[in-house]
Amino acid sequence: MPRGPAGARPRVDGCDDVPALMTRTAHIRAGLVAFAVAALLAGCGGGDDEGGGGEPAGGGGGAPDGEQLFASRCGSCHTLSAAGTDGSVGPDLDDLKPDAARVLTAIETAPGVMPEGLAEGAEAQAIADYVAGAPGAG
Ligand code: HEC
Repeated sequence: MPRGPAGARPRVDGCDDVPALMTRTAHIRAGLVAFAVAALLAGCGGGDDEGGGGEPAGGGGGAPDGEQLFASRCGSCHTLSAAGTDGSVGPDLDDLKPDAARVLTAIETAPGVMPEGLAEGAEAQAIADYVAGAPGAG
């Protein structure tokens, strides 16, 4: 015994109909279709907002880790207790307490025996921010 009316599947929200809709209207106007489909998908997805900022949730990829970079690239020559390094080739940064600009300058100008090109751009900035804000430097 058949149940329900003939058009049993209401097409109100259209979620299942998106591919069909695309085919049907494909040769109308691409821009319009894209817009319509996007609107439909947005309505169907329901809550794509969470975590959409593109900001890495920490750990793996994304923003460079200043502490890790410092420990691996600077720690062999510099002491910084927050990073657990005790190099003694360069000045003790626990004592020096350089601000971020000074650290950046050091990275860029590579004074003395400091190697050039230890870090650039976002990495250099991350190291500088880390050293300047390191606990124990106060
Ligand atoms: C090969 C050893 C070596 C490495 C690696 C090294 N440094 Fe240095 N660094 C030195 C020496 C030596 C000096 C002192 C140079 C001078 O003033 O003649 C120095 C000086 C500095 C200073 C003080 C500059 C000033 O204004 O007096 C800062 C800040 C600094 N280094 C940060 C860093 C950072 C950040 C890194 C990692 C990206 C790093 N260093 C890597 C040897 C090193």
